[in-house]
Amino acid sequence: MEYRNLGNTGLKVSELCLGTMQFGWTADESLAFEILNAAFDAGINFIDTADIYSRWVDGNPGGVAETMIGKWLKKYNIPRHQVIIATKVRGPMGKGPNDEGLSRYHIMQAVEASLRRLDIDYIDLYQAHWYDERTPIGETLRALDDLIHQGKVRYIGASNYPAWRLLQALWASDKNSCASYVSLQPHYNLAHRKEFERELAAVCETYGIGVIPYSPLAGGFLTGKYQPGESLPASVRADSAKRRYFNERGWAILGAAQKIATEYGVSVSRVALAWLLANPLVTSPIIGPRTIAQLEDNLGGAGLRLSDEEKSALDEASMWEK
Ligand SMILES: NC(=O)c1ccc[n+]([C@@H]2O[C@H](COP(=O)([O-])OP(=O)(O)OC[C@H]3O[C@@H](n4cnc5c(N)ncnc54)[C@H](OP(=O)(O)O)[C@@H]3O)[C@@H](O)[C@H]2O)c1
Repeated sequence: MEYRNLGNTGLKVSELCLGTMQFGWTADESLAFEILNAAFDAGINFIDTADIYSRWVDGNPGGVAETMIGKWLKKYNIPRHQVIIATKVRGPMGKGPNDEGLSRYHIMQAVEASLRRLDIDYIDLYQAHWYDERTPIGETLRALDDLIHQGKVRYIGASNYPAWRLLQALWASDKNSCASYVSLQPHYNLAHRKEFERELAAVCETYGIGVIPYSPLAGGFLTGKYQPGESLPASVRADSAKRRYFNERGWAILGAAQKIATEYGVSVSRVALAWLLANPLVTSPIIGPRTIAQLEDNLGGAGLRLSDEEKSALDEASMWEK
């Protein structure tokens, strides 16, 4: 496992980040512990979570993934300074008008709840899960800056921000001399390129923002488990994969990745991860394995380096219209 600086910061994170959206959804606590242990043993030092994971599951209050991570840290005596914990704030954690958003009011309440569930004293990377059009950006940044000064947060990042909002935030930090987003967590993979590449990529490059793409395997589509004409595999993600990627472009991308995978004798997912890692803007794709076998497969993506020709073939198959 290699370690890369998170954007312009001195913080070193593993070139794969372990996502935890599946904890409390498609992976129960004991499986979550197994996945966390195996990932940590393989050298992953970067864990991504969010307060709302996985609140969409019936009867689940949210905060479940954070709680599992907190229990894992204690149960296995994981040295706190050896894991970089990234969590997020913004999504609804209750029904009240202030139970969500990026107001100072909600951030101050949400950070305490995340720290309590994670059972830690500080969060390494605190991310705005998506923008909040109803809160002035200056208010959000000032609150996050205060958390850094209070020692509760080390770095701050954004997720799902369009380019203009990210720029607005960077300029607001500069103008107000307060902490600035150091990373962006975009939806970005071989089959979903336009959202990041159209404008965000240039902002990240210009300002040295670390890029930690989520859904690097397109929710499972880029593993090769879905094939044209075949019945859907058992997966809670299957309908979404079908809706988004079962089309001519999707199958062409899969075909191009499959060809390279066959040449190397590796899985399609490894090729899809290697394509992201070949992009110098990408710091660390966030994988979301649901089983140990999936984790082991995904880990192989870190060791695969594509040639320029292979990368071009994938670029061409997945090209988006301007
Ligand atoms: N910021 C945001 O808004 C946001 C949004 C989404 C995710 N995230 C973060 O990104 C992380 C990863 O997202 P993601 O889960 O969408 O990532 P992904 O890597 O695109 O999809 C992961 C899913 O693909 C399937 N899979 C993975 N490896 C496989 C293999 N070798 N063989 C067959 N199936 C395989 C599994 O689903 P099944 O086995 O169930 O089919 C697995 O749960 C999340 O955990 C979360 O931390 C952030």
